[in-house]
Amino acid sequence: FDAVDIIRTKRDKGTLSAAQIDWTIDAYTRGAIAEEQMAALNMAILLNGMDRAEISRWTAAMVASGERMDFSALRTPDGRVKATADKHSTGGVGDKITLPLAPLVAVFGVAVPQLSGRGLGHTGGTLDKLEAIPGWRAVLSTAEMMSQLQDVGAVVCAAGSKLAPADRKLYALRDVTGTVESIPLIASSIMSKKIAEGTGALVLDVKVGSGAFMKDAASARELAETMVALGTGAGVRTVALLTDMQTPLGLTAGNAIEVEESVEVLAGGGPPDVVELTVRLAEEMLEAAGVRGATGMSRADPAAALRDGRAMDVWNRMIAAQGGDPRAKLPVARESETVYAQADGVLVELDARAVGVAAWRLGAGRARKEDAVQAGAGVRLHAKPGDAVRRGQPLMTLLTDTPERFGRAKEALEGAAVIAAGGDLPSRPLILDRIG
Ligand code: URA
Repeated sequence: FDAVDIIRTKRDKGTLSAAQIDWTIDAYTRGAIAEEQMAALNMAILLNGMDRAEISRWTAAMVASGERMDFSALRTPDGRVKATADKHSTGGVGDKITLPLAPLVAVFGVAVPQLSGRGLGHTGGTLDKLEAIPGWRAVLSTAEMMSQLQDVGAVVCAAGSKLAPADRKLYALRDVTGTVESIPLIASSIMSKKIAEGTGALVLDVKVGSGAFMKDAASARELAETMVALGTGAGVRTVALLTDMQTPLGLTAGNAIEVEESVEVLAGGGPPDVVELTVRLAEEMLEAAGVRGATGMSRADPAAALRDGRAMDVWNRMIAAQGGDPRAKLPVARESETVYAQADGVLVELDARAVGVAAWRLGAGRARKEDAVQAGAGVRLHAKPGDAVRRGQPLMTLLTDTPERFGRAKEALEGAAVIAAGGDLPSRPLILDRIG
């Protein structure tokens, strides 16, 4: 094959053959296709798309570029193969759901191998949040991961470099060539990693709104349908929820403050939206893993496991197994500044993207991959859309160790909070749809 012919085919809106796709991904991973050629092909794919057969082959070729994990050695106490379930969120602001969710699902005997990433841009990363816990470590060997899955049932750790190495290279290239925002490329990127990971069941939380990749419901639905088809085609029981990301989840966006809020949820409290999404995703994971509806397990009730401390027990063991002290005091930012409501009325908008950018600029996120994040930085919300507010009441607290960052954070928040004079606010559902 010739890389230029393949680029021309896609440039002219043609269809790539299975053999062309296999060759392209393999040659790129080996370094036999130049970065500029792959960049041109990605742009042609972004502009002209791929059909379902092409996307499916592209994904399979990325899976084949590396190793696959295998959880079939995990056993239940009575000797059967343990079911596995994973969750993937397409990324949001204040999205700490993995923290309470992984231990919650493990309560019911399902192994949860939650391979996670770090934040880049305005969306936070699960590993950055957990690293706020003194001593906790993200990098585990495969043997450590397996033994934790067997003994504790849940693990949140960094994805090893051997899973879908083609995606690692491709994503770094897309990031700097304006080719991230393509449904075929996003779907194949996410699903190649999940299929290589080897989970039996997968629940996708596809975000819609200002804080998400997908700003409108139609494109989020298309992304969700594409990913569900890829997972199902590869033998992974896959379902997707479309969920709202027009406003942040919960009352915190940052690192340590999101851990603190997750622990509140594990203690049976916490903000209602975080609890609702955690419980619903747990139900979907248990059902996809064959646990919730199965005979004898029909009473699997995740909401009860949050209230009665079973999920908290697994959390404590999960954090301790990775060197963390679940009882240690979390880092606190050195400086804070309050943002006040400008009028009386009802808070009708609190823009997720603006809050995410503010938290990022305060130091909760990083501008370059090599940067460190501040554990204590972020934004604490004191009101959510639908709440009545009075002029002069605190709306948000901005947190950072480096006060010179307050100015740029406040710039990001200009216009983010919209207060209307009165009247009824139509309530916006958090869970918009289910696909699969
Ligand atoms: N997350 C991924 O893993 N890949 C993408 O392409 C976009 C988001």
